[in-house]
Order: sequence, then structure tokens, then C-alpha cells
Amino acid sequence: MLASTVLKALRVHHHLRSTNTYIRSQNCGLGAFSFSPGVDVQNVQSQNLKFLTDKWIHRLKRESVPEAELSVKFITEHFLGRERAGVYGVKENSQNLTREEVKKINELCHQRLHRVPVQYIIGEWEFRHLTLAMKPPVFIPRPETEELIDLVAEHHVQDETGGDSFSFLEIGCGSGAICLSLLTEFSKTTCVAIDKNKAAVNLTRNNANRCNVSDRIELLHADLQSVLPLLGSRKFDAIISNPPYIPAKDMALLQPEISRYEDEHALCGGPDGLDVIRDILRISPVLLKPGRRSSVWLEVDISHPKLIDEWISGNELGLNYSATFNDFTRRPRFCHITRK
Ligand SMILES: C[S@@+](CC[C@H](N)C(=O)[O-])C[C@H]1O[C@@H](n2cnc3c(N)ncnc32)[C@H](O)[C@@H]1O
Repeated sequence: MLASTVLKALRVHHHLRSTNTYIRSQNCGLGAFSFSPGVDVQNVQSQNLKFLTDKWIHRLKRESVPEAELSVKFITEHFLGRERAGVYGVKENSQNLTREEVKKINELCHQRLHRVPVQYIIGEWEFRHLTLAMKPPVFIPRPETEELIDLVAEHHVQDETGGDSFSFLEIGCGSGAICLSLLTEFSKTTCVAIDKNKAAVNLTRNNANRCNVSDRIELLHADLQSVLPLLGSRKFDAIISNPPYIPAKDMALLQPEISRYEDEHALCGGPDGLDVIRDILRISPVLLKPGRRSSVWLEVDISHPKLIDEWISGNELGLNYSATFNDFTRRPRFCHITRK
């Protein structure tokens, strides 16, 4: 009981530390960001770090850029390194910076002014215990998704030392946040991960190497609609996905960080947000091992659990809607579906 309370507190803390990541995002295909530098990038002088960070925080706030303080903190600490930034962080640090350092920090903060997500600016982000490389336009993992890993683990991996060999298929791996968390936390798990975006497959491969789990993951650049022949007769204990699920009408509401820079195909799930989800459920019965523990785990929009339950009931797929789970904001966000 105490342990779970502490874990929840840590999770909330982690969420704050992680910034809100701007809900869900999307890209406009910018590979590297190029911005016309403002006057403060061209004519730089050596400056005191505290003066520079205060100046950028003020400027980002004035331009209504979200999470101005955290953004400047992440950017400068990443660029200078933890040691240089000091134990109390850059805000309390009045060391002098060279002209070159000021120029570089100005460039990075300018990107933030243009609403580039901080994760793309610094090129990495934390997810559970992992630090994963991030590259636009691949979807930036959100803190809620960390809870999906706990749900899957609780159901499929009861006793890691007992020889569990849990296998899963991840549909839409993005940066690899979900599959690499499970592979690193449970040393006997194996997985196949697919994504229709080549950049995502490449990023997951790169992150799998960083995490030393390349020997337990098979990566396929494939669309879910054409993946069955590639998988042959393979069967899995679980199919896991955080699919694109934003209903098309809500796409216009996304913050610029999301709508300008993250891949639209990672976000939009069609008119009701369920296009990809229905495709996943249609192929799941063929891919799951026989038995009622075999499961599909989905992260979805809050409007979806009821609709998915009704859709499964109205279609003879051989699936059973098992449960809905809330995220840490107490909204219904995760669906558990089992084989009949
Ligand atoms: C919301 S992102 C999730 C990424 C990652 N799993 C995470 O949670 O951070 C959805 C991913 O699904 C991929 N995707 C979308 N439609 C797909 C399809 N039909 N087949 C395979 N992958 C798809 C996108 O390219 C994107 O990388």
C-alpha cells in the first residue's frame, strides 16, 4: 500500500518534470530546424548564465510559449551538461559563458520560440527508466503511456524469475518507448514492433541498440493493414498499441508544438478516432495465442472505451472487452481486450 502510494507520488513528480509534452503532436516534415536567427544570435557577447536564462524565460513568456522556465532549464542544462549547470540547476548559476556558448543557447531557445518541442531541441527524452533519442517527426512519448506498461506487466509477467517468456506485438512503435520499456524491464520478453513510418522504425532500432535489447526485438517497416503475411504463423501473448486516435475534428485544437512538428499520421485516427483501432482489433484474433490470458492493450481517447466495447459486442471477432483503466488524471484511457 505504502509502496504504491510512493510510486504514484513519484509518477506525478515525474509527470511535472517531464513537462506536459503539449498533449499530442504532429509534424510538417521538417527534418532539421532552420530559423532565421534574431539579432541576439548574431551579435552575441559573453554573458552570465543567470542573466541569459532570465532573459529567455522572460521572452518566451512574453510570446506565450508554454512552460517557458522548464524549456530554458532543459535546453541550457542539456547543452552545458549536468556538471556545468550545477547541483541547483542553471537558474541559480551566475557563471560566465563564452560567446560561442551564448550563441548556441540563443539558437536553441530561438527554436523554442518557434514552438519546436523541447524534446526535439535537445534530441532525447526520458520515459520510465530509459533515456530515448528523439527525432522529428516521430511521436514524442507521453507520460500517460508509462502507465500502460504497468498494466501489461501486471497481467502478463507475474514472476520474472519463474521463466515467463512473454511475447508481444507492438503496432506503431514510434520511438520505441513501449516495446523498449518492456524488453528492458523483463529480460525474457521478446517482441515484434511495426510502424508504417520508416523514420519511426529507424529511431526504434537506434534506441534498441542504446538499450542493448536488439537481440530480442524484430522491427518491421510495415502498415498494419499489410502486416499479416509478414508475420506468417507467429502468435503473441499480447498486442499492444498507442495508436493514432485523435478524432479528425479535434486535430485543429492541437497546440503548435504538436500540429507543426509531430507526424500527423501518428495522431489522427479518422472521423471518430477509431480507424486504426478497428483495424488492430480485426487482425488480433489471428495473431493472439489461444487462451483467455492473451490480450490486446490499447491507449485511447476518453470517448473510446464505450465505443470499443459496443463495437466488439456487435462484431463476431472472437474478442471480449475485459476492462477500462484510468490514467493518472483519472480519465478512462486504457482498454484491455482478451480472446474469447
Ligand atoms: C501515437 S504514436 C505512438 C508511438 C509510440 N508507441 C509511443 O507510445 O510513444 C502512433 C504510431 O503509430 C504509427 N502508425 C499509425 N498508423 C499505422 C498503421 N496503419 N500501421 C502501422 N503503424 C502505424 C505512427 O507512425 C506512429 O509512430
